[in-house]
Amino acid sequence: MNNRTASVAEAIRTRRTIRHYLPDPVPADALDTLLELAVEAPTSWNLQDRSIVVVTDDAGRAGLIAATGGQPQPQEAPVLLVFVAEPQAWRAERADVYEQARRNGAWNDEFVAMFAAASEEFQEGLAARGLLREYAIKDAMIAATYVLLAATELGLATSPMNGWDEGLVKEAIGIGDRDDLAIALIVSVGRPAEQRPHPGRRAADRNVFHGRYGVPRP
Ligand SMILES: Cc1cc2nc3c(=O)[nH]c(=O)nc-3n(C[C@H](O)[C@H](O)[C@H](O)COP(=O)(O)O)c2cc1C
Repeated sequence: MNNRTASVAEAIRTRRTIRHYLPDPVPADALDTLLELAVEAPTSWNLQDRSIVVVTDDAGRAGLIAATGGQPQPQEAPVLLVFVAEPQAWRAERADVYEQARRNGAWNDEFVAMFAAASEEFQEGLAARGLLREYAIKDAMIAATYVLLAATELGLATSPMNGWDEGLVKEAIGIGDRDDLAIALIVSVGRPAEQRPHPGRRAADRNVFHGRYGVPRP
């Protein structure tokens, strides 16, 4: 593991998708840091409506290997993180979240009352439009993005993974029967057994606009 720390900008610039890994385990303190940073990611209405299942055991790995159709990452990476979106989490009690924000001096009683009512109304609107899953996935994806960058800073390699059968991933992590949960992303983590060059990005003027979609920046 390299002990050099990278700035966020360096992590963004140097991170690559790594598909092949050395068998070395991820040190427990590095994994703890990674997970602690992952849950620092913001969520809509501070719902914290995503969870991360850390898979390191043979049975879980076998399930994820089957779910990902032979991709090398689950076969080789010592750690696999499954990001689970929780589209129904907003319906559950959130007194602990409000209490914590009060204790931290972030939110007062008046704000909590307003926030609770407004978030309820917002989420009801999403439910009516069939958007709960999409919004929970957004929150899970931001946490996964934090992991990609934090791992880079810690000298660890990652690969985001979309190529899987959702039912099989859910079975592998013990939620095969949970229609209320969705899989957002799998991220493999470990020490790289390959170096990959940057595949490049299109020039920003292709994807970055000014004021209106398609309008070039001056
Ligand atoms: C949401 C998402 C899902 C991805 N799924 C896979 C995957 O299942 N397997 C894989 O090998 N790479 C996967 N990738 C990696 C992309 O192919 C890779 O990010 C892209 O080619 C750019 O390379 P870079 O990450 O090294 O910049 C995924 C990337 C993203 C953002």
